[in-house]
Amino acid sequence: MKYRSEITGTGSFVPPRIYTNFDLEKMMDTTDEWIQQRTGIEQRHWVDEGTTTSDLALVASIEAIKNAGLDKSDIDMIIFATLSPDHEFPGTGCFLQAKLGIPEIAVLDIRQQCTGFIYGLSIADKFIQSGSHKNILVVGAEVHSKGLDRTPNGRNVAVLFGDGAGAVVCSRKELIDPKKDSRIISTHLYADGNFAKELWIPAPGNAMGAERVNHAMLNEGLQYPQMNGKSVFVHATKRMAECLVHSCKEAGFELSDIDVFLFHQANLRINSKVAEILSIPEEKVFNTIQNYGNTTAATIPLGMNDALKAGVLKKGMLVASAAFGSGFTWASAIWRQ
Ligand code: UT7
Repeated sequence: MKYRSEITGTGSFVPPRIYTNFDLEKMMDTTDEWIQQRTGIEQRHWVDEGTTTSDLALVASIEAIKNAGLDKSDIDMIIFATLSPDHEFPGTGCFLQAKLGIPEIAVLDIRQQCTGFIYGLSIADKFIQSGSHKNILVVGAEVHSKGLDRTPNGRNVAVLFGDGAGAVVCSRKELIDPKKDSRIISTHLYADGNFAKELWIPAPGNAMGAERVNHAMLNEGLQYPQMNGKSVFVHATKRMAECLVHSCKEAGFELSDIDVFLFHQANLRINSKVAEILSIPEEKVFNTIQNYGNTTAATIPLGMNDALKAGVLKKGMLVASAAFGSGFTWASAIWRQ
């Protein structure tokens, strides 16, 4: 028997507390005008002190499992994508697993930053098609707000990021009609580590010397994200367009066959540029950055759940997704919802 993986359930969660650009004006040297003009962001959600990445993931996961019509005991694997883990180790997937109360299943954490969710979806698809697993929970979740440099040194990064979580359940189904079945049709994954230091957090890390982190490093702000924004912008636009074209071609579709485009949300200008390069009508691109900022690995499942709730995305539609981020990593996915 041939198998397909169908996205049977989606869930998402953002912490209730909203920080508008005007709130940020009071906290750091920035303006609403600068943030909106350069990025399209109007607000973001940030957690209160006691909330962790796995806490956000838990709420999103429960919703995804429920929407899939499953019980948590039906889940036989968790794939967790985050760059803002609860702790250095073990992976946040293990903390989520304990909170969900589903011991003795496989848990895999992946570190692919903004591209993490598509990498996770791709891994889940392969496990499901192999026949080894039946229901895989793929989660992307981030708490960025606790790790942002709010001084003038870090303002180019601090205004961009928001907290949130998204989750999907990929379920094993029999492949009957490849053209009509709801299924993950293709995924394409890429990376170029030559650009690893264009967007990274240097410390703590054993490449930093005898100590993984020390006071001098902290005083220098090396525990915060360091980004060459212009370089990331240029590569993101090029690579997202490139991999979308490639994945459509491989899957035997024209770009015009795609009903909804769910792009990573790093900058509204990046998404507009990708749409312009590929002549994609803007109304087919579902953007959420205005409300959430960049939520890294959570972005695409969060957008998927919002698009479903808004009725923009419906069962049977053809969806294309593309993401780009630290690593550099980039990826695309095409699925029938
Ligand atoms: O998820 C994947 C990772 N991230 C991305 O994809 C981000 C890609 N890059 C970008 O989106 C853009 O490069 C940014 C939005 C980060 C920055 O936009 P930019 O047009 O490249 O601005 P810039 O870094 O060249 O800075 C322009 C000016 C500078 O001032 P001067 O030197 O012209 O006087 C900055 O100091 O804007 C200043 N600036 C700010 N001003 C107010 C930088 N950050 C801020 C801020 N508020 N938050």
